[in-house]
Amino acid sequence: MDQSQVVERTAEHVQALLAGESTGHDWWHIHRVWKTALVIGQAEGANEFVVELAALLHDIADWKFHDGDLEAGPRAAGLWLESLNVEPQTVAEVTEIIRQLSFKGADVPDHMPMLAGQVVQDADRLDALGAIGIARTFAYGGHVGQAIYDPAIPAVRHDSAEAYRNAAGPTINHFYEKLLLLKDRMHTATGRQMAERRHAFMEQFLTQFFAEWNPTTQNLEST
Ligand code: ADP
Ligand code: NI
Repeated sequence: MDQSQVVERTAEHVQALLAGESTGHDWWHIHRVWKTALVIGQAEGANEFVVELAALLHDIADWKFHDGDLEAGPRAAGLWLESLNVEPQTVAEVTEIIRQLSFKGADVPDHMPMLAGQVVQDADRLDALGAIGIARTFAYGGHVGQAIYDPAIPAVRHDSAEAYRNAAGPTINHFYEKLLLLKDRMHTATGRQMAERRHAFMEQFLTQFFAEWNPTTQNLEST
């Protein structure tokens, strides 16, 4: 099987696995990350085969939905690639990228030395920003039963993957605990550039959200 067939088979496999998923990790999330990662990867000169496979397989067994098992994702991806006889070096790179990909807290640094991994992490994070990011965040919050917002519950900076995973604060807090921090954690120049407008749009959304939360006549005059 040549590389393009491996990519095609993998895309079909992931689409079948994630169709109808409702936490924001659905097939269309994967599809967007895949296409964005290709754009960034080409601009940055990353290994395209590794970028495509890591993007396609990065969310098939998320630790947040597997009792915090950080190995569930890399394991499922590795088994799939081995079943297609992909060479061990590529399997090792793809599974290592998936292992390190997810955000684990405001005060937990990223560890992503491989360029292909930096590209996929930037692409995945871009999909958490902007209009799509806002939609996904509230979809996820609703799925796990979080409140939209509660002024009595402050946002927190998590310093471990476990603390981050166990957070059950209101969804608005997630903007301060993760989403607004992502722009400055982009690895590639291309990703950083693509993050700018999406970041600005979220800030605009939050300004409007709080203006509506605390209505004053001033809001009336300024609109
Ligand atoms: P990553 O790809 O960095 O692992 P996640 O899988 O954590 O990202 O997040 C997937 C989507 O779910 C993102 O849009 C993210 O912002 C959203 N999400 C994750 N945790 C929360 C949360 N506690 N509240 C609201 N949205 C969340
Ligand atoms: Ni993702």
